Amino acid sequence: MKTEPRVLPRASSTFLAIVIVVLALGIFIADTVTELEVAVAVFYVAVVLVAVGAFQRRGVILVSAACMALTVISYFLTPTGAPKSGLINSLISLAAIGVTTYLAMKIASAEVAAHEARAQLAHIARITTLGELTASIAHEVNQPLAAIVTSGNACQRWLGAEPPNVEKARQAVERMIGDANRASDIIGRVRRLARPAPPRKEWLNLNETIQDALVLARSEIATHDITARVTVADDLPPVLMDRVLVQQVILNLVMNAIEAMAAVRGRRPRDLVISSARDGAQAVRVTVRDRGAGLDPAGLPHIFDAFYTTKKDGMGIGLAISRSIIEDHGGRIWAEPQADGGAVVAFTLPTSRAEMA
Ligand SMILES: Nc1ncnc2c1ncn2[C@@H]1O[C@H](COP(=O)(O)OP(=O)(O)OP(=O)(O)O)[C@@H](O)[C@H]1O
Ligand SMILES: [Mg+2]
Repeated sequence: MKTEPRVLPRASSTFLAIVIVVLALGIFIADTVTELEVAVAVFYVAVVLVAVGAFQRRGVILVSAACMALTVISYFLTPTGAPKSGLINSLISLAAIGVTTYLAMKIASAEVAAHEARAQLAHIARITTLGELTASIAHEVNQPLAAIVTSGNACQRWLGAEPPNVEKARQAVERMIGDANRASDIIGRVRRLARPAPPRKEWLNLNETIQDALVLARSEIATHDITARVTVADDLPPVLMDRVLVQQVILNLVMNAIEAMAAVRGRRPRDLVISSARDGAQAVRVTVRDRGAGLDPAGLPHIFDAFYTTKKDGMGIGLAISRSIIEDHGGRIWAEPQADGGAVVAFTLPTSRAEMA
């Protein structure tokens, strides 16, 4: 799977481009007006470092080449100073620019590789979750298929009647189309989650993503006699996010809540509440609240650590991946115990206004 390297919002990269030009020109002027003995050109390394944060590989090489060219031009334009020291200083500056460019690009490509590895891990975790949900998803698809068979039989009967009841048959066919669409919609959702697609952020409404995740977990919730309540705020501003990844986070939290409630036996009501709300002026918040075993105070600081699990078959990566996804979106995720038993896990994501700030 290929992931895209980190790309800055256009406004930020334009701002950094301006900073680069101003900085480079400043250094060029200072380097030219000062004597040859003064190695101002060495400060071009700062320009290269800013470029690494702003541009991709080609852009950084271009900036670095421009800095080297400016160093050479400045050497010839500088009217005062000893040419020999000037030459040595310029060579040192050229070497510093070259080495900085090389090292900075190596670090950047290591970051891209780490990003790719994280995306692959997230994909594997998604497939694992889908694997755990196989029986529930099969049940979810089976329902419309069974309804199609029933409507098909009815349709056959209406057409075989004397005289044939075309209107009733037409209604049966309409129901069949609706159910077929429902089945294909569920399969589409599974395929979207299973596909190893590169991350793609779009402006989306979190409420729809909550619904997307719940469609896949619906049967699992019902199997465990859990009552799920969704309380979403209607006025949520859109969020710049990757639909599949945020859906994966919600699914992880919902699966944890189901597992926590499945683990407790007794009379405690099995309530799962998923809610969305604004969080201040610049963020939206999703909260998943359960009445399960609750969070052990000793384990609480570790639940977002990779491979921390208290479950027999757990991998301990659900929350670790969720945290890296949410932080990658500029948000925050946390967990806290509920006063009357159970756990609350919530995350925030910045809204359009925060993104533009
Ligand atoms: N809703 C919850 N209630 C109680 N404990 C929880 C809850 N959510 C997470 N935990 C605790 O945090 C641990 C880590 O959760 P995480 O989702 O990362 O891994 P896991 O569920 O154990 O395994 P998997 O990788 O399959 O998700 C869990 O093992 C559990 O102890
Ligand atoms: Mg989990």
